[in-house]
Amino acid sequence: MMDFNEVIQQRRSVRHYREEPLSQDILDRLYRALQVAPSTANKQERSFYFVQDFERRKAIVTRACHNQMFILEAPLILVATCRKDYAIDLAIAVDHLVLAATNEGLGTCWISWFEQERVKEILGIPETRDVPVLVPIGYAAESPPARTRKALGDLIIRV
Ligand SMILES: Cc1cc2nc3c(=O)[nH]c(=O)nc-3n(C[C@H](O)[C@H](O)[C@H](O)COP(=O)(O)O)c2cc1C
Repeated sequence: MMDFNEVIQQRRSVRHYREEPLSQDILDRLYRALQVAPSTANKQERSFYFVQDFERRKAIVTRACHNQMFILEAPLILVATCRKDYAIDLAIAVDHLVLAATNEGLGTCWISWFEQERVKEILGIPETRDVPVLVPIGYAAESPPARTRKALGDLIIRV
């Protein structure tokens, strides 16, 4: 287990994965990370598809993800859905999951460049739902360096 600060500092967008599946214990802890995330008035207007079936993952990646084929290398794709206008609540939960996965030694990558309508069709997600993000999850097959960030002086405004 990493120190929490280390988890935050070590997270990277991973774009190459090993095939190795995730244990049920790890999956259970990822579910819990999603479950405990805060939400507006505790409404919890979000739900999560854990897509492990290869044919379904292949359909999502080849038909909806603009040829971002690295997503198919991961053994699991999280597809995050919410009621319309609840994107903030959804993002909080997804970030909980991303950090929990990092803590488990897993790699992830936020993905928003994909065709929502196609993903809805493939998974049978109701038309009324939003699907703003998906996340491949798996053991990393690369160690990307940290990307650059704005200097603190350009980010933090002390008043
Ligand atoms: C909301 C969101 C959507 C993103 N969509 C994609 C995507 O579709 N494809 C991709 O390869 N990376 C995507 N990324 C990853 C970003 O490119 C990445 O977070 C950024 O370059 C910083 O790198 P780092 O995550 O390694 O710190 C997305 C990130 C976020 C937060």
